[in-house]
Amino acid sequence: MKILVVGGGGREHAIASALSRNPDTEIYSVMIRRNPGIDAVAKKVHICRETDVKNAVGFAREEGVEYAFIGPEAPLEAGIVDALESAGIPCIGPTKAAARLETDKAFCRQMMDINQLDGCPLYRVFHSAAEAVNFIEEYDGDLVVKPIGLTGGKGVRIMGEQVDRAGAIAYARSLNGEVVLEERLLGEEFTLQAFVDGNHLVPMPLVQDHKRAFDGDTGPNTGGMGSYSMPDHILPFVSERVFLRSLAIMQSVVAAMERAESPYKGILYGQFMNTAQGPKVIEFNARFGDPEAMNVLSILSSDLSEIVCRISEGSLASSHVSFEPLATVCKYLVPEGYPDAPHAGDPITLPKNHPAVLYYANVEKKASGSFLTQTSRTLAYVGLGETLEVAERTAEQAASGVKGAVRYRQDIGTRALLERRIAHMKELL
Ligand code: GLY
Repeated sequence: MKILVVGGGGREHAIASALSRNPDTEIYSVMIRRNPGIDAVAKKVHICRETDVKNAVGFAREEGVEYAFIGPEAPLEAGIVDALESAGIPCIGPTKAAARLETDKAFCRQMMDINQLDGCPLYRVFHSAAEAVNFIEEYDGDLVVKPIGLTGGKGVRIMGEQVDRAGAIAYARSLNGEVVLEERLLGEEFTLQAFVDGNHLVPMPLVQDHKRAFDGDTGPNTGGMGSYSMPDHILPFVSERVFLRSLAIMQSVVAAMERAESPYKGILYGQFMNTAQGPKVIEFNARFGDPEAMNVLSILSSDLSEIVCRISEGSLASSHVSFEPLATVCKYLVPEGYPDAPHAGDPITLPKNHPAVLYYANVEKKASGSFLTQTSRTLAYVGLGETLEVAERTAEQAASGVKGAVRYRQDIGTRALLERRIAHMKELL
């Protein structure tokens, strides 16, 4: 089976690596920069912008690929699924219209509102700087300012955490008032990802990502510094009831999209806040999370290629998807200065002997075999284990062996950090 993977980051290396576990699958790749990990498992790599739809579809047709798996959100917004499916190539990823769940924050909230879906925070959509500013000035409490369009995961500003009222006003003005303003949610965040075939939804293990750049959840927001999951596939601060309610919210979204004749197919990513009032939707993404894909795909025990076929046929069932009962800890290494002033071109050396899984992201491999940093996240190590402690030690052993101008968060996946999350949730309930 010939499968095209679009995208060249850590998430896409995890997708390509999971697909390559089926010896009958041939992987083709479209990416803007050569990812050494994808390069190693792909039969053929085509270097082009992932949003250059015509070019990517041309490559797919020439090579006779049978399915495509879309990693990042930008090509979804550019309509790559619509174009590939018109060329007869079924995709794991939603159409441009269905991807608005992620690419248009106003659409997402209005869809939840119209369908009276559970878990929607109080929100208002603005298209005028004067009106947005007036609302922020008058609102009694903290707000979240979200740009309506895509921002690479770094565009949200939270009053009382990252900015004060004056900062929120300045930010809304800088976006010309094209914003969604939402009530600030208090609680613990978690990610629920699911495979969706247009109608059926099969959940994956819960994961918690860490957006802040430095240990102790300090510093600016990043694309995600690392993440962990537990052997029982839920998180200790998320009850069974909260998990089932979150899953029901995701199911109701898929049903609402089907009713609106814009069926959703691919990976649905729900970022939830577990609040004292139950789970609330922070946002939906129309693709795997990065780094969360690396957690779940490292322990996927069923065949991802078969899941691709099932999603395409609309015949996915829970029995087609299983995961090892293992904890996972993912630690991303990032270049110096990341995310505000990332430095590129620094040489790094990787440890030779370690038991972690390595996923390459934004790193250049020279012909000599040496590696140079680029301006985004460099590479990630995922530790697996029967307990969180074992998984964390494994990831830490590998990450600490990297030499050069990169850094990572040492606290991700540690028992101390998990205990803080549990205590925080107890305080709120
Ligand atoms: N981990 C956050 C994201 O992928 O958007």
